[in-house]
Amino acid sequence: MKKLWGGAFGESTDELVDRFGQSIRTDLNFWQEDIIGSVAHARMLGEVGIITKDEAQQLIDGLEKIHEGGPEALNMDVEDIHTAIEIKLRELCGDVAGKLHTARSRNDQVATAARLYLHNELLLVLDLIKDLQKTLLEIGQTHKGTIMPGYTHQQRAQPITLGFHYMAHFWALQRHGWRAERLFESANYSPLGAAALAGTGFPINRQATSDELGFTAPIPNALDATSDRSYILDALHVSAMIMIDLSRISQELVLWSGREFGFVKLADSTTTGSSIMPQKRNPDMAELIRGRTGRAIANWVTLATVMKGLPLGYNRDTQEDKPPLFDSLGKVKDSLQLVDMMLRTADWQVERMATSVRGDFSTATDLADYLAASGVPFRVAHEMVGKVVRGCEERGITLEELTASVLAEIDPEIPAEAISVLQPEQSVARRESFGGPGPKAMDVQVAHAQAIFAERGFPKIA
Ligand code: ARG
Repeated sequence: MKKLWGGAFGESTDELVDRFGQSIRTDLNFWQEDIIGSVAHARMLGEVGIITKDEAQQLIDGLEKIHEGGPEALNMDVEDIHTAIEIKLRELCGDVAGKLHTARSRNDQVATAARLYLHNELLLVLDLIKDLQKTLLEIGQTHKGTIMPGYTHQQRAQPITLGFHYMAHFWALQRHGWRAERLFESANYSPLGAAALAGTGFPINRQATSDELGFTAPIPNALDATSDRSYILDALHVSAMIMIDLSRISQELVLWSGREFGFVKLADSTTTGSSIMPQKRNPDMAELIRGRTGRAIANWVTLATVMKGLPLGYNRDTQEDKPPLFDSLGKVKDSLQLVDMMLRTADWQVERMATSVRGDFSTATDLADYLAASGVPFRVAHEMVGKVVRGCEERGITLEELTASVLAEIDPEIPAEAISVLQPEQSVARRESFGGPGPKAMDVQVAHAQAIFAERGFPKIA
């Protein structure tokens, strides 16, 4: 295996040692960022006169050629991406390639590439969050009148609307966008030029490379710059948080697409069949998102465990930061798109949802509210309605089927007109408190969401 070091070594390393230490395959995820970091470093070396401007240009041209050639042209029998690129550069430019690593170490180099990678990936994630929010907002508008059961304890609780339900997920995504933006800001500092741990005697210009790479500023302490991995932990946390909510949306789709609920038919394009049961339409993508969320959560724990024992200064342990990072961000990007796809192509079973709120006594609270509004203390009203529910059950009727005469039989103190509040449509229509599912409250909510959505990025809710 070709190496960038070895001058002091009499014997070559064992093959197992080489294999165990290799990160080249996973490193391919950020091969471009590594090149970009090197271009900035080479240009700065030329500008401050550590190498000549001509040498710097040769290095930059060579790095650009490597970029054009793509990762396929790189030697994979090496330790890592930094080695592969430097070896390629030597092939292309000869001895001058050896000057690129002046005033730099792989320790600041790898941290720079990882931060650039995170920067680029977060921009993609932010866009994908917006895409999903757009779909949620559309469902919010289209289905603001689509009555469905609302649940607590997974038991029918009160009627709500499908639009109201998905707007709840809209706000969750808003928080994720906000979190990802904060992460973008806090991670966007440059380690480049920190060298191995303690800076360099060469008159480098860290501000220049930081500016060229689009970082906010150079990290003020070289030891911190090479030892810190908190930005990756933050990224893993944000990724896990996003996955947790996508998993919850997925779980709802799995439940609702089954015959027991029958609230939604997922499109052929997003479901799979069974190799034995011809009638089946399986929500595999939703299940996999739910299943893979476990790994996204574990990725944070994995790196936190790596970091907790590390004294400052680069430690090879931190090579283990990148597989979780690539894995989590990959899952987040795919899952955001898949959830969006499933929701956009879903065939909502509006009738089924409407009929399923009938007969489930989920308007009992409305009757209690009605009595409370007329002056009965809510606790007393709750008791009275409890008796009405029992009276209906004894007679084998639902709340919607309750007539004035039966109501009078059960409790003559409840006025006959109270039965009007027992229809689910009425129940939803009356819940106009801020944030409620009533039509006016939903208009306010959707308008609020639209205004926030139209802004750049992810501003605070209010
Ligand atoms: N593959 C290494 C990593 O990901 C690159 C840095 C290696 N530095 C070193 N001093 N061995 O951390």
